[in-house]
Amino acid sequence: IPVQQATANPETGEAIETSEQSNTIATKKKPGDFHFGKIIGSGSYSEVVLAQEKCSGKEFAIKILEKSHIIKYKKVPTVTREKEVLQKLDHPFFVRLFFTFQDKERLYFGLTYAKKGELLHYIKRVGCFDILATQFYSAEIVVALEYMHSLGMIHRDLKPENILLGADMHILITDFGTAKILDEGQKDCKANSFVGTAEYVSPELLTAKSACKASDIWALGCIVYQLLAGKPPFHATTEYLVFQRITKLDLNIPGGFPEKGSDLVTKLLVLDPTKRLGSENFGGYEPLKMHDFYQGINWEQLHKMEPPLIQ
Ligand code: ADE
Repeated sequence: IPVQQATANPETGEAIETSEQSNTIATKKKPGDFHFGKIIGSGSYSEVVLAQEKCSGKEFAIKILEKSHIIKYKKVPTVTREKEVLQKLDHPFFVRLFFTFQDKERLYFGLTYAKKGELLHYIKRVGCFDILATQFYSAEIVVALEYMHSLGMIHRDLKPENILLGADMHILITDFGTAKILDEGQKDCKANSFVGTAEYVSPELLTAKSACKASDIWALGCIVYQLLAGKPPFHATTEYLVFQRITKLDLNIPGGFPEKGSDLVTKLLVLDPTKRLGSENFGGYEPLKMHDFYQGINWEQLHKMEPPLIQ
């Protein structure tokens, strides 16, 4: 479906834009179309505000970016990529970009409002997840990564803060400013300077300054560990010490950790990205989905299922 395709207005002959992800003719929305509410997220160069569209009553999370700030801090490529990636994603486990508009000072991205907030908040609240909840939520992340990777894109900053929950308690992955669109047929890890959040960063990014699909799988391994243990696997007091633990694969499985969970985590947190369960060179997603930890998961129906209670 064409995104922001220019169409001629049959009456005036003026160019009008079709709304994102639909073919219905719609004019650009504007700040005055919304009641703006509380701030629900903030980054180094953006704010996410809860907004209600006046005409429909619909709620959106509107990401607001200050143009002068983006230019001053050379974030134009980041913002361009974020929009480009969002426009390609059309899946229940990702926030959706419904519309964009701008005024003199700012850019506005209209996103799915994830009513239940960050997965991190739930980990902090309950300490750790039980096996059933870990199995379910990590399975949703697996499905989401499989989809994103199938489109030739990698997230590069996957962590519980970027995994939001909708009103129905299913995941909505967000934050694509650091995502990468891989070159056609690019399989190997390519050089790039971006480093994500210390605790979830892959060893190949630290040693070879390169990220690939398997780098997101490493982050998945860190998240599965964190859900079961209550803390990320390579935690330390300083970023330097975190990086040391990652590159040395200083991984401790605490007592009481479920056996199938331990087996899965040790197959995901492997230094060589080509030897990680789920990586392309290792048979892709099928062997990961077949792992004993996911026994009983109905992979096709996850988004239609009632999520287990987080307790
Ligand atoms: N914080 C950042 N983005 C958000 C979103 N889409 N929904 C809810 N909270 C958010």
